[in-house]
Amino acid sequence: MNQKRVFITRRVPQKGLDLILGEPNLAVEVWPEAMPPDHETLLKKVPGLDGLYCLLTEKIDDELLDAAGPQLKVVSQMAVGVDNIDLAACTRRGIPVGHTPGVLTEATADLTLALLLGTARRLVPAAEAVKAGRWQTWEPLGYTGPDVYGSTVGLIGLGRIGLAVARRLAGFEVRLLYHNRRPSPEAAAVGALYVDLDTLLAESDFVSLHTPLTPETHHLINAARLRQMKPTATLINTARGGVVDQEALIEALRQGVIAYAGLDVTTPEPIPADHPLLSLPNALVLPHIGSASLPAREKMATMAAENLLAGLRGERLPHCVNPEVYTT
Ligand code: GLV
Repeated sequence: MNQKRVFITRRVPQKGLDLILGEPNLAVEVWPEAMPPDHETLLKKVPGLDGLYCLLTEKIDDELLDAAGPQLKVVSQMAVGVDNIDLAACTRRGIPVGHTPGVLTEATADLTLALLLGTARRLVPAAEAVKAGRWQTWEPLGYTGPDVYGSTVGLIGLGRIGLAVARRLAGFEVRLLYHNRRPSPEAAAVGALYVDLDTLLAESDFVSLHTPLTPETHHLINAARLRQMKPTATLINTARGGVVDQEALIEALRQGVIAYAGLDVTTPEPIPADHPLLSLPNALVLPHIGSASLPAREKMATMAAENLLAGLRGERLPHCVNPEVYTT
């Protein structure tokens, strides 16, 4: 009996695990710790694997793929973003890479709205004050911020998640601007107006990032672009930390170049507790929880399992990030 070997880099929602564990002729190892295996450990785990089921916390590079060996048939990531994976290195070896688009769109859009409203209405400092016994009276000037309702919101990136954010904003009667590599045919339906990046930055009260991290979007928001924003503006990032030059953002928040930031993603992740970003009173930082609704995580785990099993069977992955692997 020819057993195929699979390594899963963390405990993932049971529905996804069950799909894999229910498959005959698989030897499956699940990394049991809460913390991910470090690169050295992963290098020791992968030799001889047929399938690798990984998360965005793992770096999948040439070294790891070489250590795995030529029998590796599939890399399946339980995430939509794959900037931790060297796709070209996978493609060169004929290895398809799976990801989980669509199923976390609504959860991530919900979290974007939570950050928009949470930063605007100063939810975290207000709640912290209550807990610390600092709520002494109803304060006419306390915890005041901008309105989301009626504001101008600029979305950078109008893909699946950007569009889902736009749909939610309809109820807030905002003026909705967007910038994308090219105008989106779906923009009109959500009332979003295509503008160049300079206009978007200059006119928006809230700028929200919805691009993947690629060489083109790396540090897209830098010191110069932050200076183009309104001093009253808020930057929201639920995409990837690397889209923002974080040092420039810290300076901008310190000096009042912009007013506030709501960040679900940082560089690095996790960000150390003593990092200067966390000492700013005008930054709300979350631990990359955009997709952290139970239904979204279950669907992600299942979709990643389906990609993995298809790859092991030598079938085309239902959701493949490097489809060129099938033609080259
Ligand atoms: C989460 O950030 C994902 O890419 O799925």
